[in-house]
Amino acid sequence: MAKSKTRCIGILTSGGDCPGLNAAIRAIAKMAMTHYGMKVIGIQDGFRGLVENRMAPLSDLDVSGLLTRGGTILGTSRDKPHQMPMGGKLLDMTDVAVENARRHQIECLVCLGGGGTAKNAYRLWQKGGINVMTLPKTIDNDVFGTEMSFGFDTAVSIATEAIDRLHTTATSHHRMIVCEIMGHRAGWLTLQSGLAGGADVILIPEIPYQLETIGDYLMDRRRSGKRFSIIAVAEGAMNQAEAEASEIRKKEKAKEKERKKQKGESTEAMDAHGLKESGVDEARAEQPLKVRTVDHEQVAYHVVQEPMASRLARQLQDLTGVEARVTSLGHVQRGGIPTAFDRALCTLLGAKAAELLAEGTYNVMVAYRGGVCQPVPLADVVGQRKIVPFDHPMVLAGRGVGSCFGD
Ligand code: F6P
Repeated sequence: MAKSKTRCIGILTSGGDCPGLNAAIRAIAKMAMTHYGMKVIGIQDGFRGLVENRMAPLSDLDVSGLLTRGGTILGTSRDKPHQMPMGGKLLDMTDVAVENARRHQIECLVCLGGGGTAKNAYRLWQKGGINVMTLPKTIDNDVFGTEMSFGFDTAVSIATEAIDRLHTTATSHHRMIVCEIMGHRAGWLTLQSGLAGGADVILIPEIPYQLETIGDYLMDRRRSGKRFSIIAVAEGAMNQAEAEASEIRKKEKAKEKERKKQKGESTEAMDAHGLKESGVDEARAEQPLKVRTVDHEQVAYHVVQEPMASRLARQLQDLTGVEARVTSLGHVQRGGIPTAFDRALCTLLGAKAAELLAEGTYNVMVAYRGGVCQPVPLADVVGQRKIVPFDHPMVLAGRGVGSCFGD
């Protein structure tokens, strides 16, 4: 057995699930247990399981056969330790989370998640004094400090296959089909699958669009004899007016936060139910929250939204008179088995995580950069988001082959 400074770790998965989580759990646990003799504790349902003390040691058998399995055997949630809905109230459960980790002799909490998870883990370290480590997971690929997050490659494959399939039916019916792709407020998933699937129009949040520009492009295509079009639109895409309004809102919010800070008031936004908006991770923070009582228990959920692609398809149909259809890929993009690349990436990240834990390196994210995995201080990661630069090579290539970005 190789020497290890860490004897016991806890693993949790937090935020939206994605293919590769199980492969990463497997890699960390196998290497930590068999190579370094660490005890590995699996924590259920993200930070909620930590707060509710739902955790148990993992055995070699528990983490066998996981490489190809989608989802997460540990379960996940979007709950934050410092703002956790408990019995209808939002409570700071940081101390309870830390106490539970200590009770199980956990020396480092390994958190598999996206930007929100990194923030929560960082906060646990800063406020609770417990060591943490994160691995970048998200189909959005927007985690700062890493070139790739696991789950992204699989989602790109799924979205690309969908675009391929939409091509054949759109061609047969001479229609335009608007395909909505996830990605939260980043355009990576739409950009890469749009490029790989040869989408005619690619709309991403980073490049605000103008409806008329898309309409003109679609009509030009039609006049040139191409009677179908595929429009790949990111769920967070905005037209130019919306983008301007969003910028103004952001500035006002920042001003208000600063004003409250100066006055020493709480900077957390409250919703109509007294639940703070930020009680859930940021992927859903901007959606209306509803609180109801179900079977005598208070539950909070985000109201289901109409796919933005429906609105866009209607508008383009009105503008051009061309028949339109809508496909919203939704959670299909997060399901099923990970691609070979994601499996290999998870194994690389997981093995590096175990090595770093054995060395006693904590409070870092294990990042993938230039084909290798390396630690990046969590402080350099949190509060930042990796978005698509306007002049990214994939944007330029897309423009080069004639795709319209709506601007
Ligand atoms: O962050 C991953 C992601 O799939 C985003 O692309 C999407 O906006 C969000 O999660 C969906 O969240 P939920 O599963 O809570 O609906």
